Amino acid sequence: HIGAVHDRRHRPLRDLRISVTDRCNFRCSYCMPKDVFDKDHQYLPHRDLLSFEEITRTARLFAQLGVGKLRITGGEPLLRKNLETLIAQLAQLETLNGTPMDLTLTTNGSILARKARALKDAGLKRLTVSLDSLSDPLFRQMNDMDFPVATVLQGIETAQAVGFGNIKVNMVVKRGVNDHEVVAMARHFRGSGVTLRFIEFMDVGATNGWRLEEVLPSDAVLERLQSAFALTPLSATAPGETAVRWGYVGANGQHDPSLGEIGLISSVTHAFCQDCNRARLSTEGKLFLCLFASEGWDLRAMLRNGASDSDIRQALAQVWGQRSDNYSEQRSLHPEIALQRQRVEMSYIGG
Ligand code: GTP
Ligand code: 5AD
Ligand code: SF4
Ligand code: SF4
Repeated sequence: HIGAVHDRRHRPLRDLRISVTDRCNFRCSYCMPKDVFDKDHQYLPHRDLLSFEEITRTARLFAQLGVGKLRITGGEPLLRKNLETLIAQLAQLETLNGTPMDLTLTTNGSILARKARALKDAGLKRLTVSLDSLSDPLFRQMNDMDFPVATVLQGIETAQAVGFGNIKVNMVVKRGVNDHEVVAMARHFRGSGVTLRFIEFMDVGATNGWRLEEVLPSDAVLERLQSAFALTPLSATAPGETAVRWGYVGANGQHDPSLGEIGLISSVTHAFCQDCNRARLSTEGKLFLCLFASEGWDLRAMLRNGASDSDIRQALAQVWGQRSDNYSEQRSLHPEIALQRQRVEMSYIGG
């Protein structure tokens, strides 16, 4: 039997996030701090990565279990060779009810200007670009590779020019580091066709030295925005959405779509596990049911030992059926668990 599956908290499986590489050309301190990911760091050998065929097969099986959205992540996904080929394969997939698959990608934008056209032609539908600052010195410091901000902004412009509409920009806000840029970032992207989203600095992984004092709660971000702009709440576009949306108000006192909107992603202060419908597939084919999980389920072993489609589908349905993860809710109740460091890195399972 093929059909939608639900976990122990009655949450459907809708969103599969696929990490295609554990490499990145940035060293953001909240994700791949340089002292840990140094020149001696061992990346996965090529034979351990899922091949494009293995990824596409997996994604097709997930689609048959109710997945309607695929997100390509990393590491930096554009570093995976011939990524367009994978995109073209995934773009062919259909969802359970026959609608086309939502297919999107999260990138740091560093080589986006070069890749945008090929990604568009391959059938990529949407794009999210990470950008933490507009100030060149601060951006160089935050990516810790002295990478200039102008190149990323150029990448966003090129992507718009080749036809990517409604690009999202993710800004991780760290108090005392880039929080003074909240309003400037909003002003820059207001009316540009880009949706800016503010992400609370999270305690993912085991290496980023997370401290609650460095989290600027989304409520405070919103307060700062409201002192500069008129904003009105917008309703969610899909169940289980990570961001809470606010629209810019225009001259008529209502949301003006031409000015756009912002989003607040508040994993720390307002957990959104309640409807979490996301599964993550690591670069080497381990399935993670939560961003904060410490262990994954070895799907690659099944893919490589001759299991049939129906065997794999059944196994996936069973794994999802047993899921009960709600880490962020647990952290709200027991803040001390944030300091227990046994979690997988975000660069490995993908944001
Ligand atoms: P769209 O809005 O459809 O584009 O997708 P999305 O909201 O899933 O966007 P995106 O993948 O850009 O997620 C934004 C950020 O939210 C991620 O980079 C993470 O930092 C955070 N995030 C996404 N999913 C989860 C989740 O399941 N749990 C937690 N705690 N954080 C998440
Ligand atoms: N807290 C919040 N967001 C993070 N990201 C990476 N690490 C963290 C963290 N510790 C975000 C990146 C990017 C996406 C892949 O995940 O900024 O937008
Ligand atoms: Fe690379 Fe993105 Fe992690 Fe920064 S957040 S180190 S750009 S994967
Ligand atoms: Fe989903 Fe885990 Fe994030 Fe909660 S903490 S929203 S269960 S990935």
